[in-house]
Amino acid sequence: MITSIADLREAARRRLPRMVFDYIDGGADDEITLRQNAERFRTLALKWNVLVDVQRIETETTVFGQTVAAPIIIAPTASSRLFNPRAGEPAVARAAHKHGVIYSASTLASTSIESLARETPGPKLFQIYMWKDRGLVREIMQRARAAGYTGIILTVDTPVAGNRERDPRNRFSIPPKVNLSTATQALGRPGYMLDLATTPPVRAANFSHLPGAVGSIVDFIDQQFDRTVTWRDAAWMREQWQGQFAIKGVGAPEDAEQCIAAGADVIWVSNHGGRQLDTAAATIDLLSPIVERVAGRAEVVLDGGIRRGGDIAKALALGAKAVAIGRPYLWGLAAFGERGVDRALDILTTELRRTMALLGRPRLSDLMPDVFAR
Ligand code: FNR
Ligand code: LAC
Repeated sequence: MITSIADLREAARRRLPRMVFDYIDGGADDEITLRQNAERFRTLALKWNVLVDVQRIETETTVFGQTVAAPIIIAPTASSRLFNPRAGEPAVARAAHKHGVIYSASTLASTSIESLARETPGPKLFQIYMWKDRGLVREIMQRARAAGYTGIILTVDTPVAGNRERDPRNRFSIPPKVNLSTATQALGRPGYMLDLATTPPVRAANFSHLPGAVGSIVDFIDQQFDRTVTWRDAAWMREQWQGQFAIKGVGAPEDAEQCIAAGADVIWVSNHGGRQLDTAAATIDLLSPIVERVAGRAEVVLDGGIRRGGDIAKALALGAKAVAIGRPYLWGLAAFGERGVDRALDILTTELRRTMALLGRPRLSDLMPDVFAR
């Protein structure tokens, strides 16, 4: 039975070959940051107010210039069809739309931005990496605008690929290649393998017109990503784009200041879910100083380690406008397709509402630093 995000993770583990499960689940180096992101939420103790009318719980808010039903954003993640070859990105975007929350498409999505836009009318953001070829960057921004994406997210915490040791150990690549080791992993997962074999190959669909197919994601990052990118390039991107502009992967207050100078509407506090710099602080521990420094000049979004609705309440109490989730919806997608993403969002919104009721804080604006016991 599925009652929690942890249950969805177990269901995904049963459905996926190990290398695919580990690509979602894993982090960099010793996975300290990966674990801390989630653990630090648990160590923040709450105090609650009683005898408050909590008949009506309000989770509606605005973020990225959109009114949303809950302060949850679907974080951009590469290649959804790898996790569920049949369902892929459209299933995630549809579930997000059903819940009235924002969907973010990854640059490395396995569905093109255009076909995704045709399938789902909900609010959508597009995540970008700065490629070496600026013409290509400009072209993809034009495509995103033409397809109706209302905001772009520039991810800046991947100047080089993180050291995810589970991937080479599992002989993982996108698309997965068959050899003795991967075949052994696949053997016990016939449902997934059948889906993979009977659907079109998993590709970086936004760049399928380019030569040099995507091998391992780590090789791809190392070949294509521009390591000379600086704040000037972020400002350049801002000039090219009229809609909402977020910078994702921020951890330092002084960098938040630079984001504002570069014209960001949204500062997205993230350590890439513990997949890049290991022993980076948990994002919840980085949030307050950034919120203080930003002082309302931009919206602050946080991701990393959200596994319970209560985690969302804590991030909002410390000043985040919304949180984003990665693995929670990917586990749902892997295990049950669109229904699983729907379930992940159901679980998190139900838990958030319950937490707010038990805290005696029925409105998001009631979530303040004084919810903490110390
Ligand atoms: C990611 N993330 C990510 N971020 C990004 O900007 N572009 C991308 O293509 C990807 N790809 C990706 C793949 C997978 C499998 C994962 C798990 C993550 C990072 C993602 O947007 C987000 O920052 C983290 O997932 C948040 O942490 P949690 O919610 O997974 O703990
Ligand atoms: C990852 C890259 C693709 O985290 O962002 O796997």
